[in-house]
Amino acid sequence: MTLRYAIIGNPVAHSLSPRIQRMFGVQTGRQLEYEALLAPLDGFVRMLRAFFDAGGRGVNVTLPFKEAAFDWVTSHDEFAGAAGAVNTIVVAADGLRGCNTDGIGLVRDLTINLGCALRHRRILILGAGGAVRGVLGPLLGASPDCVLIANRTSARARALVERFEDPRLQVADPAALEEPFDIVINGTSAGLTGVLPDVPVESIAGSLVYDMVYGKNSEPFRNWASENGAAQAVDGLGMLVEQAAEAFLLWHGIRPDSTSVLRQLREER
Ligand code: ATR
Repeated sequence: MTLRYAIIGNPVAHSLSPRIQRMFGVQTGRQLEYEALLAPLDGFVRMLRAFFDAGGRGVNVTLPFKEAAFDWVTSHDEFAGAAGAVNTIVVAADGLRGCNTDGIGLVRDLTINLGCALRHRRILILGAGGAVRGVLGPLLGASPDCVLIANRTSARARALVERFEDPRLQVADPAALEEPFDIVINGTSAGLTGVLPDVPVESIAGSLVYDMVYGKNSEPFRNWASENGAAQAVDGLGMLVEQAAEAFLLWHGIRPDSTSVLRQLREER
């Protein structure tokens, strides 16, 4: 019997998730269908319910529905709990379980694909929106010395720091940053409008600079970083593949080979 999965979002047509999940399915010999479903902004829960009522086995959730998914599921894992957002829904014995694999995806891309250990590192994150909230739990779990949050609206950075209650997590004033960080992560949506987030060049000297966005929208920031002293400037394609692999593991109990899928997608771009 073919197992049915989907990603639900708005917009969703651009999503690489169907491609990635189908590649994992072929690789592991699973017969599965994985489609992209566009939900109307006021019709997300209706679509979710219909999908699972019709026998659907799992859903990925993308913007702007991750918080609504968190409110709707029966239970959640620790990362979804910390983020208040769900990107993967799994059929469990007691109902539908909401998980969040975004942060694990980022940590696996940094540590495994890029070979950058996070233990005792100093990390700067730009942005304090939903994307950043979704990855902080696993990042802190990887034992960095500190994670500083710099955001255009400082009140939002403060609210995020208060939510996590971890002494290693602190608000940074972008104008006062003078030292380089080991890792600088752009978690803002500034690149979607071609704008650069505000960060002094001193912060990225010799750093691994990472943009959570992938492809064209990450180029202005990555180019700026490469031209201004970063050791490496990487986009978020690896994070996308790794969060998908983690969702696949939750649904199928088997870890796909994400490295070969990431390599293939990079070769095609
Ligand atoms: P997402 O789910 O993508 O995180 P979000 O919750 O709307 O979306 O958060 C967007 C993040 O990008 C915020 O940190 C936002 O900064 P503000 O909190 O000040 O709005 C940041 N951002 C968006 N456009 C930006 C820009 N042009 N310059 C700097 N930061 C920007």
